[in-house]
Amino acid sequence: MAHSASSKLGVAIVTGASSGIGAVYAERLARRGYDLVLVARREDRLQRIAADLRDRFQVRAEALVADLSEPGGVSAVADRISGDPSVTLLVNNAGFSALKPLTETPDEVIVRMIALNVTALTALSKAALVAFKARGAGVLINIGSGAGFAPYPGIPVYGATKAYVYLFTQSLQSEAEATAVRIQLVLPGAVISEGWDVAGGAELDPLPDSIVMTTEDCVDAALAGLDQGERVTAPSLQDASGLRDYEAMAGTLLQAMFDGKPAPRYGLGA
Ligand SMILES: NC(=O)c1ccc[n+]([C@@H]2O[C@H](COP(=O)([O-])OP(=O)(O)OC[C@H]3O[C@@H](n4cnc5c(N)ncnc54)[C@H](OP(=O)(O)O)[C@@H]3O)[C@@H](O)[C@H]2O)c1
Repeated sequence: MAHSASSKLGVAIVTGASSGIGAVYAERLARRGYDLVLVARREDRLQRIAADLRDRFQVRAEALVADLSEPGGVSAVADRISGDPSVTLLVNNAGFSALKPLTETPDEVIVRMIALNVTALTALSKAALVAFKARGAGVLINIGSGAGFAPYPGIPVYGATKAYVYLFTQSLQSEAEATAVRIQLVLPGAVISEGWDVAGGAELDPLPDSIVMTTEDCVDAALAGLDQGERVTAPSLQDASGLRDYEAMAGTLLQAMFDGKPAPRYGLGA
């Protein structure tokens, strides 16, 4: 631990900070002056990143080694959020994908993916919302994906976990409406990271350069969106009106789904 004084901005916890998007969040938040708690399974990487952040930005930075697909790992991070009043920001970023049809995806991978992408994100969001409401301030950032909007071949479980993040985070935003807690949903498109190797993407034809973003651009755009007060930030979506129209249509459909009479097309009318 560096001998720096604690940050006025408080402590940011970033899950999945040992590589990719999470590592860039950690760097950018340290640059802004946050102290950091870096969460992932690979301790060597976390320690190296923490040392680098302490050196370069004179912030406190520490590793919290946790497997968030296990209840014990989730509790360790939830306890830190609840028990440390200096925690002011959580980035729920840890997640993984497997590029395989469901029938070829091992059961154990499905269980771990849902545990990490859905269960851990839900539990840590709750811990953050409870703690931040009690403290009268706090920022929660949940990382979803553009892949959560429609079925895409080869990612049946991953796409569905990200659809969950979309709906869940928007519900939380409503729940936090009248509070001082800020919740941002970030929806990256395709971003260069080790996540593609984890998913087995190395076997795929490379995606065209024109649709792939760097981790730095993704996180910088996401933080710009946060600064601008956006609730939903899609770094690579060029025309944001599509997202607004989608949300409006989803709201209309939700209303329309509830009616006591079967629709006339089913021929059950008198
Ligand atoms: N890359 C993309 O194209 C893209 C697009 C949209 C959304 N996303 C989302 O962005 C987030 C970050 O992905 P990335 O692309 O940056 O992938 P990445 O480079 O593979 O990073 C994933 C991070 O999650 C951590 N992690 C994985 N399993 C974990 C577990 N069980 N417990 C704790 N930490 C775990 C990894 O660390 P350890 O292995 O050390 O645990 C790593 O730090 C994910 O939620 C992903 O779904 C990515």
